[in-house]
Amino acid sequence: MQNSIVDIEKEAFQSIEQAQDSDQLEQLSIEYLGRKGVLTKFLRNISSLPENERPGAGKNANILKGKLERAFKSAFSKIEAATDIDFTGIDVTLPGRPAHIGSLHPVTQVTKEVCDIFLRLGFDIAEGPEVETDYYNFEALNIPKYHPARDMQDTFYVSENIVLRTHTSPSQPRVMEKTKPPVRIIAPGKVFRCDSDITHTPMFHQVEGLMVDENISFGDLKGILTTFVHQFFDKETSLRFRPSFFPFTEPSAEVDIRCVMCKGEGCRICSKTGWLEVLGSGMVHPAVFENVGYDTDKYTGFAFGVGIERLAMLKYGIDDIRKFFENDIRFLRQF
Ligand code: FA5
Ligand code: MG
Repeated sequence: MQNSIVDIEKEAFQSIEQAQDSDQLEQLSIEYLGRKGVLTKFLRNISSLPENERPGAGKNANILKGKLERAFKSAFSKIEAATDIDFTGIDVTLPGRPAHIGSLHPVTQVTKEVCDIFLRLGFDIAEGPEVETDYYNFEALNIPKYHPARDMQDTFYVSENIVLRTHTSPSQPRVMEKTKPPVRIIAPGKVFRCDSDITHTPMFHQVEGLMVDENISFGDLKGILTTFVHQFFDKETSLRFRPSFFPFTEPSAEVDIRCVMCKGEGCRICSKTGWLEVLGSGMVHPAVFENVGYDTDKYTGFAFGVGIERLAMLKYGIDDIRKFFENDIRFLRQF
């Protein structure tokens, strides 16, 4: 009986070695390990052995069973691997799978469009930090501590004197401190406010504009911004300058665009007014010029800050600003 286990082992390993394909292996595995297989039968017959031989035979048969199972497993994977690199089954004339081509986020596209228009009008691009000091975000812009105007923007404070910038306007004093007039810059970037509804998100984008020189008037502000709106949308687009207040400009105006969703009839996007605000603007306040050391008798200027998402909503007819930041590929793929 002990001999026959050795014989079974020898024979089995020889056959496995010689098997050509997985069908043959399958057949062999049934022959040895199947319900009526050689080894199974051997195990079943152990009870007919003399009592003193039984434990040894059982142990050896189980050891062989484990060995064979491992041998079959590795023989199967060898054969599979060999089949994988057999290229005869591949149709090389099939067209390749196209690579998935992404596109720029609509906010990036609109930012680029806005910048391109102002670059053509002779503006340069400046940049400022997203984490800003209280000084540049507020003080330099004529918004002292505890001034009620600070409530106009719900601020995320990093520490007592460091904030996430609430607008791109801190780029104004930053640029003016480093440059003598004439100044003609735009500054695009992210801004942050504790704000969220269908036309507000806690992170959004603005493009700041600043033009300072001798004899700059409110007429220049109106001309440049009207040109911008007509180039960005089209010449038929109606806009209106609505008197407003910013501590860093005087006089100040906000610019509204006729709501494209309802054609001015009033809907939930424009809060039933028929207009949607896209930017704030005004003539730079003399206090701001004084903070950066500009001669207020000699120079005047205008500034504006336009909301990129608002422009994109109007251009593409998007009814909820939050869609820009949900990263739903079905939405983004349309741009
Ligand atoms: C300002 O931020 C001023 N700094 C603009 C300015 C610059 C005035 C230079 C004068 C001179 P305001 O808070 O109105 O202003 O925001 C400007 C624009 O940003 C808005 O017209 C709107 O288009 C957009 N905006 C404001 N808050 C949000 C928000 N939470 N989500 C999306 N867009 C917003
Ligand atoms: Mg506003």
